[in-house]
Amino acid sequence: MCSVVNFNINGYHYKLPIIYGTFYEKAINISQLRENTGFITFDPGFKNTGITKSSISFIDGEKGVLLYRGYPIEQIINKCSFIETSYLILNGELPNTAQLKSFSEKIKKFNSIHKEINQILDKIPNFYHPMGILSSLTYILDIFINCLQEEDMYLHLLAKLPMLAALTYRKKVGLPPSHADDHLDYISNLLKMFFSIPNKSYEQNPIISDALNKILILHADHEQNCSTTTVRLLGSAHTGLFSSISAGMSALWGRLHGGANQAVIEMLETILKNGGNITKWIEKAKNKKDPFRLMGFGHRIYKNFDPRARIAKKVAENLIKKLRISDPILELAKNLEEKALQDSYFIEKKLYPNIDFYSGIIYQSIGIPKDMFTVMFALGRLPGWMAHWKEMKLNRDPIGRPRQIYIGYKKRNIKN
Ligand code: ACO
Repeated sequence: MCSVVNFNINGYHYKLPIIYGTFYEKAINISQLRENTGFITFDPGFKNTGITKSSISFIDGEKGVLLYRGYPIEQIINKCSFIETSYLILNGELPNTAQLKSFSEKIKKFNSIHKEINQILDKIPNFYHPMGILSSLTYILDIFINCLQEEDMYLHLLAKLPMLAALTYRKKVGLPPSHADDHLDYISNLLKMFFSIPNKSYEQNPIISDALNKILILHADHEQNCSTTTVRLLGSAHTGLFSSISAGMSALWGRLHGGANQAVIEMLETILKNGGNITKWIEKAKNKKDPFRLMGFGHRIYKNFDPRARIAKKVAENLIKKLRISDPILELAKNLEEKALQDSYFIEKKLYPNIDFYSGIIYQSIGIPKDMFTVMFALGRLPGWMAHWKEMKLNRDPIGRPRQIYIGYKKRNIKN
C-alpha cells in the first residue's frame, strides 16, 4: 500500500501522505497543502472531504453496509434495545447486565423538567413547528443544568429530550403535561409520556414498543451527516453540548435531511389525493426544470440500498399487519419504490429509498403526527450526536474553519 501520493504543480514536485481506515478506505492528507503549494482544495458540499478520524459508525455506501462500533445494523436491530444501542454508541462497547441496569437507573435520576421550562413552553404558540420548539428548549436547558461530570450531561439529555418531545406534543393536542414513570423501560416510558390520558391507565402495546425501539435504533448514528457535522463543528469552537445538540436539531429539520420523513408522507398524501398516478410524479422528479424531487430517495453516501430503509420497510409492513390497519400510503410507497427502481433515471443515478422513505409510515401508524416525525428522528439520533461531540473533544479536533475562493469585487474605493 502506498503511503504517499506524488504530484506536480507548475513543474514542482510534491508528496502528500495517505491515511488508511479500518476497511482500507483512503484519504490524501492535505493539511499541509496550502502551506507547501499555495493551493487549497475546492469541494462544495464536502463530497470528497474527510473532516475527522472516527470510530463510531462505518458506512460502505457501495455495498449498503452500516456498522455501529463494528456491529452490523441487521444484528443490532434484532438483539439490542435502543438504550443498549445508545450505551454502545456513547461508550464504544455493548453494556453487560450490570452496566445496562446502572445506565438506565442513572438516566431515570434525571427524569424531570424544571417548571420554568414548562412555563416557557406554555408561552410558545401552537402553530410553531415542534422541531423549532425542541431545538429552542434544548438550548434553554443549558441554563438550568449545571453538570459537574461530563457523563451526567449525556444522561440528562437522554432523560429530558423525550420529556420535551412529549410535552410539546401534548400541549399541541390539548393534553395536560405528563410525568416520567420510573418503573418503565425507556421506550415504554416514552410512549406513556406521549399518549397517556388523565385518569385512565395507559396500556402498553408491545407491537408499537417494538417498532419504536427499532426505528430509534435505525436513527442512532450515521457518521458525518449534516446534523452530526454541525454538532462537531460547534463543539470544535468549544461550544457547550446542549447548544451544539440544539444546532444539530436545526440542521436535521431541513427537508433534504431529517425533515424528509415529514416531506415523504406529505408527498405520498398529495399523490394519493391527485389520483395516485405514480408515473406522472416520477416524470416530475426526473424533469430538471421542475424543482420536485422524489422525497425519501437518494443519499450522498449510499449508491446502493440504504440498509436502514430495507429494515424500516419490514418494520412498517409488520406493524401495519399486526395492528390490522389498512394503510393506502404504505401500498402507494411500495408501488412507487418498485416503479422508481425500474426507471433508468434512478438506476443510472443510483437513487435508492433512504431511511426516511418508510420511517414516516411507522411513526404515523404509532400515532405520531406528521410535524413530530423529525422530532422522533432527533430522539433517535441523540446518542450519535453526543458520541461525536465526545469524540471530537477527545480527539482534540481543531476548530472547523473552511476556506473559500473569493469571487467578489477587487478592492475599490467609496466615491465621495
Ligand atoms: N429525486 C430526483 N432526483 C434526484 C433525487 C431525488 N430524490 N436525489 C438526487 N437526484 C438527482 C439530482 O437531481 C442529481 O441529478 P444530476 O446529476 O442530473 O444533477 C443527482 O441525482 C445527484 O443528486 P445530488 O443532489 O447531487 O446528490 P447529493 O448527494 O448532493 O444529495 C440528497 C443527496 C440531498 C439526499 C438527495 O438525493 C435528495 O435531495 N433526496 C431527497 C431528499 C431526501 O430524501 N433526504 C433524506 C436523505 S437521508 C437523511 O438525511 C436522513
